[in-house]
Amino acid sequence: MQRIEREVGANWKTLIDNNHECYHCAFNHKSLMQLVDYESQAVWSDDGITFSHEVKRKQLDNPAYALNPDELRQDSLFGFIWPTLIPLWFPGSPSAVLFQVIPNGPESSIARHDFYFLDTGMSSQEQDFVDYIDKVLVPEDVTLCESVQRGLRSRGYRQGKLIVDRSRPDFSEHHVHFFQQFVYQALLEAKAAVP
Ligand SMILES: [Fe+2]
Repeated sequence: MQRIEREVGANWKTLIDNNHECYHCAFNHKSLMQLVDYESQAVWSDDGITFSHEVKRKQLDNPAYALNPDELRQDSLFGFIWPTLIPLWFPGSPSAVLFQVIPNGPESSIARHDFYFLDTGMSSQEQDFVDYIDKVLVPEDVTLCESVQRGLRSRGYRQGKLIVDRSRPDFSEHHVHFFQQFVYQALLEAKAAVP
């Protein structure tokens, strides 16, 4: 197992909102968009309790990390387990990533990624994969989440609007809506429990 961890200047719910849509991907994750195909090969599913999306790989030779055909045993599946656990499978060798969003204050979170591989010795493709998540993908999302947090703090912000179009999962935010409903329900239950 290999762990990468960093502190993010944003509330934990901001990080999970960010993870539940790919509206931001085309402009902010240019290398990811060549690794996986959100435009025509993404399937988003939910049953009211769990939700996930499955994405086919796009190009073996891509700027995120090159895929070796001999090691290619899985495509992508990105899930969510309420409240803060996000299991991730990326294209490549058999592996899994547990992404945990750990609340660390009203405007601070810990983003922890634990990587699990079949063998203790990592292949060069697996090391490139970890480096891509650590040095490219996570920093791209950290920049976005910290920017959103600054926006939430501004006196000009009241309420945002979500784009909900299930026929266009590449930019729909319906899973953000699901997550926010979970949060709302949890807050209602917490409030009702106060004597
Ligand atoms: Fe992102």
